[in-house]
Amino acid sequence: MKKIFSVAVLALLASQTWAGPDAGSPRMNYMLHCSGCHGQDGSGSPSSGVPSMRGTLGHFLKAKEGREFLIQVPGTSQSPLSDRETAELANWLLKTFSPQEVPANTVPYKTEEVAWLRGHPLADAPGRRSEIVQRLKEQGIVIE
Ligand code: HEC
Repeated sequence: MKKIFSVAVLALLASQTWAGPDAGSPRMNYMLHCSGCHGQDGSGSPSSGVPSMRGTLGHFLKAKEGREFLIQVPGTSQSPLSDRETAELANWLLKTFSPQEVPANTVPYKTEEVAWLRGHPLADAPGRRSEIVQRLKEQGIVIE
């Protein structure tokens, strides 16, 4: 009996360690839902069509369509995360992988904005990305 009890306690402790302070945090959500394709450090796999987010993501905020694109892109909009979690995750991605490029006056994503954007998906995400990259290039900002 005592042994069973301690096994149960250990299992509980282990699950709490796993659930830990990070449970539901943007970092944990990134690890669970995004890092499989984007890599733990956001460097993606450019040769397989997953762009790096490092040092580039913040540039997207310099075009209106770019700000929208970061949420409308299928990986973000179609995840099982809630709109609130998605807004927090997007703000975390920018701060973590591209802090230098985020414009100083940036308003963080809010739940309502994310909800609206998820309800307005892109017909052609890669096409929209190319348009945004071209528009930024005209402003002298180069994204691969
Ligand atoms: C199955 C693989 C996969 C998963 C999982 C995935 N993504 Fe992506 N993601 C991609 C691909 C491929 C692209 C490039 C899409 C394009 O160019 O239209 C992309 C592009 C993006 C971009 C735009 C970056 C850029 O430079 O164009 C963002 C932001 C993004 N994903 C966020 C996320 C988030 C947040 C999650 C997790 C909630 C996630 N993705 C999960 C494959 C994935």
